Amino acid sequence: MSTLAPAISEPANVPRHVAIIMDGNGRWAKARGLPRIAGHQRGAEAVREAIKGCIELGIGVLTLFAFSSENWRRPAAEVSHLMTLLQVYVRRELGELAGAGVRVSFIGDRGGLPRETQELLRHAEQETAANRRLLLQVALNYGARRELVEACRKIAIEAVAGRIDPAQIDEASIATRLETAGVPDPDLLIRTSGEKRLSNFLLWQVAYGELLFMDTLWPDFTRQHLRQAVDEFQQRERRYGAVSA
Ligand code: FPP
Repeated sequence: MSTLAPAISEPANVPRHVAIIMDGNGRWAKARGLPRIAGHQRGAEAVREAIKGCIELGIGVLTLFAFSSENWRRPAAEVSHLMTLLQVYVRRELGELAGAGVRVSFIGDRGGLPRETQELLRHAEQETAANRRLLLQVALNYGARRELVEACRKIAIEAVAGRIDPAQIDEASIATRLETAGVPDPDLLIRTSGEKRLSNFLLWQVAYGELLFMDTLWPDFTRQHLRQAVDEFQQRERRYGAVSA
């Protein structure tokens, strides 16, 4: 995945859901002698590219890992900048996203976010709730293990109340209590910057997803990279544990 290839995507086999771990903002900035926040700013522009690319390709869901529950460990100034950048981005882009038929939704522990941010997220979700062209899920203060713990807690509460028989608990019992309930699992998960980890992102949902690690740093990501990733996805054979035909 190091060079750009011409797009050869087959429309019939486009992934329904693409998830992206946007990584490499800091290294992009460092390589240019810029502060890390400059990398995040350019990263926000790459988000526009990813969204446009998904619309062009007919991808139904795009999930972006914008801030993990572990990212609070970063210097306070960087965390504060990321929160501000996100708010600025949502305010600036909301009209265009809504006009393009994008439904925006946020997953993660929003109770831990600044109140002002929480209100903005709610507003963005309400404004775009009826849109159906692309579902843009932004993971903010998100951690997959916490999401799974919460789902288990909900099941336990219902079991104690006698509404769930423990013998009947199955995969659907968990999937329907995740924050992504009702959304198809990612077919393709992309991580940029050469790192090859899931970093506590959508651990349940990517069980059968194709994983694609690109060397490109996130601020350099364009819709051409997305096309290239989809092309590679289309060349892979997904067997879900079965044998080849
Ligand atoms: C990882 O790069 C990136 C992040 C933790 C933040 C991602 C945020 C954005 C792209 C900003 C805007 C987002 C939206 C949805 C509008 P890193 O800082 O870990 O890079 P490094 O590994 O090179 O240090």
